[in-house]
Amino acid sequence: MDCCQHLTNALVHNIVGTTKPRKESSQNYRNATIMNLGLSADEVLTTTRAVRKRIDFDRPVERQVILDCVDIAQQAPTGSNNQGWRWMFVTEPEKKAAIADYYREIFYPYIGMEDPSKFTDDDLPDRDAQGTRILSSAVYMAQRLHEVPVMAIPLHTGRLEGADTFRQASSWGSILPAVWSFLLALRERGIGSSWTTLHLPKEREVAELLGIPYDEYTQVGMFPIGYTVGTDFKLATRLPSDDFVHWDSWE
Ligand SMILES: Cc1cc2nc3c(=O)[nH]c(=O)nc-3n(C[C@H](O)[C@H](O)[C@H](O)COP(=O)(O)O)c2cc1C
Repeated sequence: MDCCQHLTNALVHNIVGTTKPRKESSQNYRNATIMNLGLSADEVLTTTRAVRKRIDFDRPVERQVILDCVDIAQQAPTGSNNQGWRWMFVTEPEKKAAIADYYREIFYPYIGMEDPSKFTDDDLPDRDAQGTRILSSAVYMAQRLHEVPVMAIPLHTGRLEGADTFRQASSWGSILPAVWSFLLALRERGIGSSWTTLHLPKEREVAELLGIPYDEYTQVGMFPIGYTVGTDFKLATRLPSDDFVHWDSWE
């Protein structure tokens, strides 16, 4: 079955909410009935938030849903159509715990928190209301990271150390659109995540843990995945486009 056939199946599957056998190893997948939310494209694009406090840590995420979302993500563009992506999904508790530990090792010093075990929201550094909300939610996720049902680590072929702007832009531009599509596809299925990059100073250690050939593949982030508690998410407050759009000249 080719990739387009998978996508068609994924879409039909989500419209009618039926089950389908999938790929050779489909016997390993749960026979779950998977429904989509029926959001409009604009709703999906404007309400896919970083979800941390509203992750359902107790509800498993079916492999089939994740694979359907990967099929959708792989419709994203890549330079020269190279499709040099890989997707690592981590579900084993010991491996998730190890990755969470690496993440926390970077995260707590990054936000200036010395003793996370005694943390309350009052300990957060002074920020505006939005900043405080984000930090509080980021700390919450860090504390419970090992409990998420699935961690996704998308990878791109090759390494970028010392690469010029052209190579960097071409490489990142050939994986990040797919990653965002993946998150949008999850959102449409009632599943949330949050973009994270803070484990990357420990990229080599995580590669060793998961058997990833570090010299050949670049990890682009780590995405804790789980069904969301409720499916209603709002537009975020952003600066008006007038503040950063230029027409024909920088001035
Ligand atoms: C490149 C990138 C790296 C990020 N890294 C982290 C991270 O390590 N940990 C985390 O909790 N959130 C991380 N975030 C999530 C941002 O904090 C979040 O997207 C931002 O606050 C806006 O919130 P929203 O996505 O809900 O609109 C990252 C987001 C991006 C795009």
